[in-house]
Amino acid sequence: MQNSISYFKTKAKVYTVWELILLELESYIFWMFRSIPSFLGFIPRYLLCRLFFKRLKSFCVIQPNVFISHSFRIKCGKNFVVNSNTYINAVGGLIIGDNVLVGLNVVISSGEHQYQDKKIPVTLQKIINKKIIIKDDVWIGANAVIMPGVTLETGTVVGAGAVVTKSTEPYSVVVGVPAKRIKSRS
Ligand SMILES: CC(C)(COP(=O)(O)OP(=O)(O)OC[C@H]1O[C@@H](n2cnc3c(N)ncnc32)[C@H](O)[C@@H]1OP(=O)(O)O)[C@@H](O)C(=O)NCCC(=O)NCCS
Repeated sequence: MQNSISYFKTKAKVYTVWELILLELESYIFWMFRSIPSFLGFIPRYLLCRLFFKRLKSFCVIQPNVFISHSFRIKCGKNFVVNSNTYINAVGGLIIGDNVLVGLNVVISSGEHQYQDKKIPVTLQKIINKKIIIKDDVWIGANAVIMPGVTLETGTVVGAGAVVTKSTEPYSVVVGVPAKRIKSRS
């Protein structure tokens, strides 16, 4: 119990009061519309993204059961499409370019727990924010993981199941764990 309280205290310290309110609002309001299918779901989810994102250039398609955290730290371009069951945590900041397509079950998380000090449980160590940048015309395949601090350069294709630990080259196709470039888009 003591550790659980300390966990929330450690977390709360890094936010302003306004951010804590936004986090609570975001959790409940997104939850209300998360699983509604088709257009009855796309429209309210788009409106929520407009409300919460720092920037959103045009209509975006958020399929059912996408989980978005720290949405107020997301800057997003035109024609963003994200498929079901994807988890996006923008704690460290997330910039999304134009025409980005994210597949099913993808994890995009821009925060990392510090773990080095073995005398302190990981739950009580700091979260390091590392911004993720996804440039224009990027396609992320199903089940990929985009690690904190990574930049996916313009035109990158991330293969299904890849774990992207390093920034990519423009128009590269990367696959595997850790993700490696196998070719370029012609
Ligand atoms: C990365 C991808 C786009 C490449 O497609 P492609 O250009 O047709 O490439 P190929 O199928 O010719 O594969 C080239 C090589 O990479 C390997 N490869 C392809 N995709 C791979 C992946 N996701 N993980 C590991 N290796 C992969 C192939 O086995 C092949 O290896 P080989 O040359 O030793 O035989 C595709 O395989 C992929 O992962 N697409 C994502 C699909 C998806 O997730 N859809 C749903 C979400 S919208």
